[in-house]
Amino acid sequence: MHLLEEHQPTDLEHLTRLSRRRFIGAGALCGAALFLGGNLLSRSVLAASVSAGGSSLLGFASIPAATADSISLPPGYKARVLISWGQPLHADAPAFDPSGNGSALAQELQFGDHNDGMSLFPFPGDDDRALMAINNEYTNYRYLFSHGGKPASAEEVHKAQAAEGVSVIEVRRRDGQWQFVQDSPYNRRIHGNTPISLNGPAAGDALLRTAADNSGRKALGTFQNCANGKTPWGTYLTCEENFTDCFGSSDSSQAFDAAQKRYGASLTGKEVDWHQHDPRFDLAKNPNELNRHGWVVEIDPFDPQSTPVKRTALGRFKHENAALAETRDGRAVVYMGDDERGEFIYKFISRDRIDHKNANANRNLLDHGTLYVARFDDGDHNLDHPRGKGQWLELTHGKNGLNAANGFASQAQVLIHARLAASHLKATRMDRPEWIVVSPRDGQVYCTLTNNVKRGEEGQPVGGPNPREKNVYGQILRWRESADDHGAMSFDWDLFVVAGNPAVHAGDAKAGSANITPQNMFNSPDGLGFDADGRLWILTDGDYSNNGDFAGMGNNQMLCADPASGEIRRFMVGPVACEVTGIAFAPDQRTLFVGIQHPGETGGSTFPEHLPDGKPRSSVMAISREDGGIVGG
Ligand code: FEO
Ligand code: CA
Ligand code: CA
Repeated sequence: MHLLEEHQPTDLEHLTRLSRRRFIGAGALCGAALFLGGNLLSRSVLAASVSAGGSSLLGFASIPAATADSISLPPGYKARVLISWGQPLHADAPAFDPSGNGSALAQELQFGDHNDGMSLFPFPGDDDRALMAINNEYTNYRYLFSHGGKPASAEEVHKAQAAEGVSVIEVRRRDGQWQFVQDSPYNRRIHGNTPISLNGPAAGDALLRTAADNSGRKALGTFQNCANGKTPWGTYLTCEENFTDCFGSSDSSQAFDAAQKRYGASLTGKEVDWHQHDPRFDLAKNPNELNRHGWVVEIDPFDPQSTPVKRTALGRFKHENAALAETRDGRAVVYMGDDERGEFIYKFISRDRIDHKNANANRNLLDHGTLYVARFDDGDHNLDHPRGKGQWLELTHGKNGLNAANGFASQAQVLIHARLAASHLKATRMDRPEWIVVSPRDGQVYCTLTNNVKRGEEGQPVGGPNPREKNVYGQILRWRESADDHGAMSFDWDLFVVAGNPAVHAGDAKAGSANITPQNMFNSPDGLGFDADGRLWILTDGDYSNNGDFAGMGNNQMLCADPASGEIRRFMVGPVACEVTGIAFAPDQRTLFVGIQHPGETGGSTFPEHLPDGKPRSSVMAISREDGGIVGG
């Protein structure tokens, strides 16, 4: 049965060193207040409120940076492992084999590796039962194989492909704790060899046809699944990011065309080496296979038999996540970032309205609509608070010069080569767009621009929302659509925070904005999540050396911000050499799920510590309060 019908649509898922006010600073807070309420408060009032740590939204004290091989939390909080890489999803599946000798088939039946974006789908009418869809972004050969090196056979390539994709699991709350339900009929792996449909305007195009699929409509597999989205009609969106890394060529003289180059095609791939043992990934043999990846994939977690669908209308690029919103007239909006230095921010608007009464009516809503790319004006050059205006530029064949004469013979080609089409429209090249989220409080959109050491080089001018040359710390961009309508074609933007290190770089642009202090500093904001109360959670994937520019920042971490005041407090620090990524909330906000990806990616970790074999494993953590209160409150 298609359980979407019984799944009710949810609401849209919902400083003060004045001497160095080179960026947001107290001025930004003033701007934030203007943005939010239209009330012109004085800088000194806002700055004073932040310096006193007076946010009433944040109910915990900021914790120190840490370099321990464990989870650090504020007093009164606890963390448990919900599930870890390799855990069997079914009772008859093989147990995790820490030796690295487990088979590809075993990995297909186990929780995937390197968990990233995730969403929670409550069962209607049951507060203690939910499904979770969790991305498995990539894997680490150091731990995947007993030899610790690149895959050396077709079986080992298959195992690597099985470690990536998506895991759907059931979770239940028992005795107040959310737990993984092994052997639930909903438990499912989607991986690098799962049959997946190609739908939308590009489906069937010649560029998507291969020898194995001359229809151009039946792809095999999803991999490099970074972050995610959750639709109001109860489906999960998984976003294919660094797919090009998985391709290489057996022809050392193969020349790539402009589109292949723009997407990063190379003879060797990125040390992934699938093409050596799986001809599907050999660009000399199957050049069009590359075009069948780099999409957003829609999955119905409540129907384990359903075929996932690649939604080509949303464009092909290195997708980070997909943030859903709704236009004033009821159409679906999907905000998306392309995570590469100098790439773009997009939004898709569906042609048809969301049917909030009949989830099945939205089954193919994401196949019809219009894709846009953002252009940001340089705006106010007062670096106290960079802000300005921007526009959405339409990526439709036949408009804005997107025609055959310019290399775009059809809408399929515009979508398959979305990066080239967006460049043709002179969209703004950004500092690596990562996650995008929409505030449940006021509809403002937040996007992490994680870092960009190439900023200032050719074609990437310094300015606007990308204000620093060789940006090693990153910033969080925010915009408000005109008339507060996600269907608008223009917006106002500002920078919510500019990360930096005020302990090492006091007084210059590398100190960051004034809501960054030696007590809360971090680098490379990546994941984002809004809880229902409007707290903005910030997850980092940065330099954890704790040295040089990054001295005093410690391991990767999760922070929590009050969007109104701009105050940011450090909430959690992860174990050694991990990335903190993926966030979901239990409906009652008493449990926060957060991902610890690749602990000990270069060694030095045995996280999570309760496992007997000492082999570090990516894990989803459940964070809660000892007193059962709202997390963060
Ligand atoms: Fe998979 Fe851009 O992070
Ligand atoms: Ca990321
Ligand atoms: Ca990142």
